[in-house]
Amino acid sequence: MDPRSIENSLRADIAACTTPEELEAARVKYLGRKGVLTSFLRAIGEARPEDRPRLGAETNRLKALCESLLAARRAQLGAADDRAGYVAPVDGTLPATNGVSGRRHVISLTFRRIGSVLEGMGYRLARGPEVELEYYNFQALNFPDEHPSRDLQDTFYVSNDILLRTHTSPIQVRYMQEHKPPLKVYAPGRVYRNEALDASHQAEFHQVEGLYIDTDVTMADLRGDLLLFLRDLFGSDIRVRFKPHFFPFTEPSVDVDMSCFNCHGGGCVICGQSGWIEILGAGMVHPNVLRAVGIDPDRYSGFAFGVGVDRIAMIRHGIPDIRMFLTNDLRFLEQFTER
Ligand code: PHE
Repeated sequence: MDPRSIENSLRADIAACTTPEELEAARVKYLGRKGVLTSFLRAIGEARPEDRPRLGAETNRLKALCESLLAARRAQLGAADDRAGYVAPVDGTLPATNGVSGRRHVISLTFRRIGSVLEGMGYRLARGPEVELEYYNFQALNFPDEHPSRDLQDTFYVSNDILLRTHTSPIQVRYMQEHKPPLKVYAPGRVYRNEALDASHQAEFHQVEGLYIDTDVTMADLRGDLLLFLRDLFGSDIRVRFKPHFFPFTEPSVDVDMSCFNCHGGGCVICGQSGWIEILGAGMVHPNVLRAVGIDPDRYSGFAFGVGVDRIAMIRHGIPDIRMFLTNDLRFLEQFTER
């Protein structure tokens, strides 16, 4: 073997070592008593006399090279070993990464907004069950059995007498059974109807009911409260108009439009070019409803109104499809924050 091929093979062998044991084997292979370099040195005695000094010097160079390569490789492997056991210190002063935090649903935010406006106007909170007696949802509200107006509020029946409420109006009846006039309440909640689903109809949606009963309450009071309420929500230049309508539990009944907050009546995409937005139903509480709860209709009168919360949220935020509220898409829900 010549010095050049010895050098090549010892470089390759040492570079291939990955453990201290392999390094030791390589050392023995080249530097051991019967190792490659030792044998080579002994063989010099058989070379021609004039070649001996050069071969001797070459062997010493290879021995030194082998030792330094072994030492370098040992240091490399040792460093890798150290890194494997390395644990980075915790720096408690670094800024925290942002965690995922929850937020209120846009419908909850709208409930809160509506509630705070009405509370500011003297309405107190009332509540009632979502699983309701047929009596409170229909009968006591002057819907006769078999009356066609029930078809507009087809719902999900638990039994003949028990159903998922179709509106928040049954809370009026429950509240008036328990309290004497004068009374002024608002009743928020979830309601259900057996609807064909589309961009503006969903089987589960939300309403807020308003009710005010006292002596001498008139439609002018209703109009005044609705103006205050809608101006607080949509802007101080909002106007309202009443259109005749029918609800069994109010007489007279009205559909309430507000002037478009976007175009102020000129016509735009939001109001369908009409300048007006249909926003709620209302009316003077029907004498039959007052009688059903033991309030004398000759002494007391009052008004009620029902607001669609989903519709208010859609109009306020420009939401095109009511179904977005219940699909739980975070890309949608994350856009709404408390204001
Ligand atoms: N309860 C009616 C509905 O859901 C709305 C309404 C409430 C109308 C109060 C008049 C008075 O359609």
